[in-house]
Amino acid sequence: MLKRFGVSIDEELLRKFDDYISEKGYIGRSEAIRDLIRNALIDVSIAKGTEEVFGTITVVYDHEVRGISEKITHIQHHYVGDIRAAVHVHIDEKNCLEVVIVNGKADVIREIAENLTSLKGVKNVRFQLTKVEP
Ligand code: NI
Repeated sequence: MLKRFGVSIDEELLRKFDDYISEKGYIGRSEAIRDLIRNALIDVSIAKGTEEVFGTITVVYDHEVRGISEKITHIQHHYVGDIRAAVHVHIDEKNCLEVVIVNGKADVIREIAENLTSLKGVKNVRFQLTKVEP
């Protein structure tokens, strides 16, 4: 059910918000405000660390480094309850990209990403978390 509410806002802030809305391609203020509220709620959930979120961890690594593939697999088995899937792509002769799709507490997902980051041969780890908000 949709509810309407009035917002009092400084004129200059509203002007900047309208510029932001048109840059982002929103048709109106309502959808932009809904997106900002959802993002804020998701950020709060992630910051708490104890709520269940979904996410991806992207790992770039050199598979020629001794034992690296086994170590990455070992970490994924250790956190099997939080890992839904993994996709592996060979970038070139030596480098690999692995995207791990995760679902669990934000703190645990951060821990998985940190464990992967600290492995010798891992060149870059990025992770992104999200959640379903109404
Ligand atoms: Ni590969």
